[in-house]
Amino acid sequence: MPYRVELLDPARHDRAGFRSTVPALTSYLQQYARKDAERHLAATFVMVEESAPARIVGYYTLSNFTVELAELPAEQAQRLPRYPLLPATLMGRLARDVGCPGTGKLLLMDALLRAYTQTRASGSVAVVGEAKDEAARAFYSKYGFLQPGIEPDRFFLPMGVIGKLGAPSS
Ligand SMILES: CC(C)(COP(=O)(O)OP(=O)(O)OC[C@H]1O[C@@H](n2cnc3c(N)ncnc32)[C@H](O)[C@@H]1OP(=O)(O)O)[C@@H](O)C(=O)NCCC(=O)NCCS
Repeated sequence: MPYRVELLDPARHDRAGFRSTVPALTSYLQQYARKDAERHLAATFVMVEESAPARIVGYYTLSNFTVELAELPAEQAQRLPRYPLLPATLMGRLARDVGCPGTGKLLLMDALLRAYTQTRASGSVAVVGEAKDEAARAFYSKYGFLQPGIEPDRFFLPMGVIGKLGAPSS
């Protein structure tokens, strides 16, 4: 099924129709995503079907972030300068609708390639995911995110790894 991913537009996208298995991720999209975009805290990207462009299949958020060198996976940290803080990209939330199983991987890949593409305009050494529960931890681990252990819920995927996943779309 052809999908596209675009910035959340409350005038066009049906936020009320979206349901995640995690209630906090449903309410974020419905109540906070627009405000966070207006305040430049987080950009929300929604995935829609080409044939039903108002219905939100899933979404993710991206924000600029900083990490300490010691937080990063050791192998990556060894190759970076010893700056006190390093630029990263926070993927703060990622969820698909309960009625759209199998779309999580597409959402994740779009988020990763978007984050990678943005490094041409603003540096970032890794995508950081925050796992709120065991299922999220398992999902991130499956896709190669590393959890160095300093912050137990924080998972890292180095930008160099993402660059090898596939050609960014733009
Ligand atoms: C996590 C989530 C996005 C996955 O979406 P999905 O549509 O079920 O994922 P997909 O079917 O595309 O799964 C892709 C792969 O990940 C696996 N997977 C899905 N959820 C998983 C989990 N919790 N643990 C381990 N693997 C998982 C699938 O088995 C599949 O593997 P395969 O390609 O080898 O068959 C979805 O379950 C969701 O929205 N969960 C609630 C929010 C959440 O936990 N977000 C993550 C962090 S904020």
